[in-house]
Amino acid sequence: MAETNGGKSEGGKAEGGRAEEKKNFRSDVPMETPGFFLRGSAHLGWGMKNRLSRIFNPETGRTVMLAFDHGYIMGPTSGIERVDLDIPPLMPHVDCLMCTRGALRSCIPPETNKPVVLRSSTGATILKELSDEVIGVTVEDAVRINASAITAQVYIGGEHERDTLDNLAYLINEGNRYGIPTLGVTAVGRDMVRDSRYLGLACRVVAELGCHFVKTYYCEPGFDEVVAGCPVPIVIAGGKKLPELDAMTMAYRAIDQGALGVDMGRNIFCADDPVAMVRAVRSIVHENAKPEEAYDLYNTLRSEREDSD
Ligand code: 5RP
Repeated sequence: MAETNGGKSEGGKAEGGRAEEKKNFRSDVPMETPGFFLRGSAHLGWGMKNRLSRIFNPETGRTVMLAFDHGYIMGPTSGIERVDLDIPPLMPHVDCLMCTRGALRSCIPPETNKPVVLRSSTGATILKELSDEVIGVTVEDAVRINASAITAQVYIGGEHERDTLDNLAYLINEGNRYGIPTLGVTAVGRDMVRDSRYLGLACRVVAELGCHFVKTYYCEPGFDEVVAGCPVPIVIAGGKKLPELDAMTMAYRAIDQGALGVDMGRNIFCADDPVAMVRAVRSIVHENAKPEEAYDLYNTLRSEREDSD
């Protein structure tokens, strides 16, 4: 897979007229990965590498993660009102689960061999300020449930920027003691613009803090520059529910510009046919299917399911 320079901006004036420094991302030059298949990970210890190799498929270097941690801020989210019923049918088609320990222990059979990225922050709900979070799960408990990674989000530029960076630093430091990687999620506050300048800054900040991989949003133009400026793997969040073909197109463009996977929730479990959707997204991530090919697969699987009902 080659990183592209599609959509590369030429710098220029930032909003408000401030002259913006022209940057040189060389996003057409892929980052070398000597010694280990994941970018920026060659100097990690054996345990870290082994856990990352459970999350990312070493054959393709990519991952399909299923995010269903929404309940920790949103309560019974549409599409996963019943985690025990809604998630298990999707599990055979994903590489990794991202969830809270409460959902995991109560609804996911421990016989599963899927790696878990454990949501470890708390302190906010949709009824209040989302960025006002603390760490709510000890790394010892993450070890007890055999988590392959731990995660919290940062709100760069937000009111609680410092606290959210402190949360992430705590997880990285504790995770490092046990060889558990940390996923840094770059959440976007209400006042922030999801452009490549902002997302590129946020991804780079959490990578420099020591995150082992980063979850962010896809943006156009300039996602290739977000990837090039971040020396560890990036996976994209799905965000709000889109029409199925649009979500597949977003996944395709992100992968084409260097993302190493998706960590999708609502665009999977809120799809008309969640199993067909996750299989279609998987074909994009692991088989380089074009969006139209993935959409054909989605429609075929969906009709087969309807015929068999
Ligand atoms: C929020 C998260 C969520 O898990 C994730 O963003 C939800 O996935 P989606 O946006 O695809 O529904 O990490 O910080």
